[in-house]
Amino acid sequence: MDKEVRQSPAEPAVHRPLPHDSAVKHVTGQAVYVDDMLEPEGLLHVYFGTSPCAHGRIGKLGLDRVRQAPGVVAVLTAADIPGANDISPLHRGDEEILASGEVHFAGQPLFAVAAESRDAARRAARLAEIDIEPLPAVLDIETALERESFVDETHEMKRGDPDAAIESAPHRLDGVLHMGGQDHFYLEGQAALAMPQEDGDLLVHSSSQHPSELQHLIAQSLGRADNAVTVEVRRMGGAFGGKETQAAQWALLAALVADRTGRPAKIRLDRDDDMISTGKRHDFRTRWRVGFDDDGRILGIDFELAARCGMSADLSGAISDRAMFHSDNGYYLPAVRIRSYRCRTNTVSNTAFRGFGGPQGMLGIEQVIEAIAAHRNLDPLAVRRVNLYGGDGRILTPYFMTVEDNVLPELMDELAEAADYPARRGEVESFNRAGGVIRRGLALTPVKFGISFTTAFLNQAGALVHVYKDGSIHLNHGGTEMGQGLFIKVAQVVADEFGVPLEQVRISATRTDKVPNTSATAASSGSDMNAMAALDACSKIKRRIAAHIGAEHGVAEDSVRFDSDGVWVGAQRRDFADVVLQAYLARVSLSATGFYRTPKIHYDRETARGRPFLYFAYGAAVSEVEIDTLTGEYRLRRVDILHDVGRSLNPAVDLGQIEGGFVQGMGWLTTEELWWDEQGVLRTHAPSTYKIPVASDVPDAFHVRIWERGDNREPTIHRSKAVGEPPLMLAISVHSAIRHALTSLAPEGVLAPLDAPATPERVLLCAERLRSGA
Ligand code: MTE
Ligand code: MOS
Repeated sequence: MDKEVRQSPAEPAVHRPLPHDSAVKHVTGQAVYVDDMLEPEGLLHVYFGTSPCAHGRIGKLGLDRVRQAPGVVAVLTAADIPGANDISPLHRGDEEILASGEVHFAGQPLFAVAAESRDAARRAARLAEIDIEPLPAVLDIETALERESFVDETHEMKRGDPDAAIESAPHRLDGVLHMGGQDHFYLEGQAALAMPQEDGDLLVHSSSQHPSELQHLIAQSLGRADNAVTVEVRRMGGAFGGKETQAAQWALLAALVADRTGRPAKIRLDRDDDMISTGKRHDFRTRWRVGFDDDGRILGIDFELAARCGMSADLSGAISDRAMFHSDNGYYLPAVRIRSYRCRTNTVSNTAFRGFGGPQGMLGIEQVIEAIAAHRNLDPLAVRRVNLYGGDGRILTPYFMTVEDNVLPELMDELAEAADYPARRGEVESFNRAGGVIRRGLALTPVKFGISFTTAFLNQAGALVHVYKDGSIHLNHGGTEMGQGLFIKVAQVVADEFGVPLEQVRISATRTDKVPNTSATAASSGSDMNAMAALDACSKIKRRIAAHIGAEHGVAEDSVRFDSDGVWVGAQRRDFADVVLQAYLARVSLSATGFYRTPKIHYDRETARGRPFLYFAYGAAVSEVEIDTLTGEYRLRRVDILHDVGRSLNPAVDLGQIEGGFVQGMGWLTTEELWWDEQGVLRTHAPSTYKIPVASDVPDAFHVRIWERGDNREPTIHRSKAVGEPPLMLAISVHSAIRHALTSLAPEGVLAPLDAPATPERVLLCAERLRSGA
């Protein structure tokens, strides 16, 4: 950012492949995360002790040894919380900051300890003598269903008469699919720093996707009003949904200690504790029944989704809803029932994770498609094609929204051709017919993902823009930066609005005292909403300047244009900085707030009808794998992706989102396996036992393209589309390709029964079972 601000013809920033604003800082260590901030005088370090068991009644919490440990300054339990002991995002009161009375999962925080050093706090936390009387625990989906243990009522979506349609169909199949959860494994773990201010107010720095919610929960825990607490988030070192609600617990502990002691307090979780004590992606069990015709066209379908939500509701209602909304993926279901059970278990409360239930919904229907293809001896791509939305009024979703913007038929055709799908499918089939130990699989799967928060009121955003009298611009909005490139995208939009070089726009940290009442940065809608709010603020400032300058020059306000080569006042060109200074001297306000609310959307949860999404994002991927049927090991040979981001705001950032999302989805479906023992204790809580994909897992042949014809028929910001979550689901093609390879071992007409994740162990077991004919 230049010190001297001057006007030079600026190349428009929007649609250009610009690097992430912090790219160099990320890789050189100059980007400041919470734990990198200069530590204030008198800083206390906070840690916590947790429940060793999954369900029980707290008897004695023996904390004397913790209190007496070297360096310890304070120990807090539920009894020390001045206000509400509540961390539940929807005010259900079903999740405590520190457990009182009963514990509901192994790893649930019981007390906090503050000490002079982090080491002292961690050592002291282990000295507690915890006496818990065990109670029967519900650990899995099956048990929860049996006991009707739910966090939310059972929901149903229905259109037509699915039972009759299935019964009268020429062919029928049914099946069940189990899919595992996923740990977020953000590189920067959960962290917060709370600083006492005047009058007992607090300033809290946190690694959070949802500063406004933290602000409110902290204030509520202290028995104060929201205006006593300010939360600041400069950036997160990855979040992926894992810091939407899950950052609150730790910010609350730091805040409670700071409030109690009057000293600044910091907390940073150890990786193992982070994995044990924070929520993850929901594991699901999906049962289905389908009726179809000779061509594999679905006539009727019945889905039963069951999600393991953990010990509290958290966001499970909306996540399960989104799984229902995506149980059709890109396919028209003429008669359909989707029932969704939200299971309460004595495990950590599951939460948002990139895709927010969408991936679990889609994986179900993609298995159905493949089962149909195997049964009819058809290429799954042919079955996908005949079922796609479009033509003959086949455009109504199970929730009665019409699909108006479907581009899948053309996008899939283009990808199939670019990836040489038909020829390669033939080669793979003949390779497998040779009957060797090594088998290959190839699959093309589509993604259709709905964009908007399905809770309508969340679809609002605010921004704050200042133009200083030297012409430099300060930009703030309610969105948070987690590496996804939101800040650069909004800055690009603002730079072009004023016609100034991007360097002239200063990006700033998200703060609750600058833009209030914000929604979480989530649902992929960060740039859709915050860029629009920023644009609104810019328009206000431009209008004020134009009115003043226009009057001075004797031209109409709307004859003043902010262009890349300067401000045009009628036929006369002026420098932006000159015009700004002149407006300032004439006492014109150069600061404005902006606001945006997403139009058109509405949804009635009771009747399961409406238009929950403004539009859909689309994409498709072709993956080819090779598996060793004697070891279960496999390798990705090649991946081709074509993804629709409308008219990209920043193709470099979007490409990064597509690649990163795909690889993260691949981790979910292949190597990342969460495993709890019979006591409900998570045993995969470090990279030693939980394997995320690394650079070497990315295929050598990785052809990722943004769809050149991409557009958005809705008037979104510069006609772009959201990109954060949808590409994760492109990885379903990897799971399908592995299943295709295994199906070559199965009898004619049978699909290999492959759950997720398809770890080498699970692939081997599946191969063994098929070989032995079981
Ligand atoms: N990309 C990076 N690098 N880091 C992240 O944490 N989170 C994802 C996605 N891409 C994430 C990411 C999730 S879960 C969402 S909802 C979106 O980014 C949120 O940002 P957006 O709305 O600005 O796209
Ligand atoms: Mo993303 S799961 O909506 O934070």
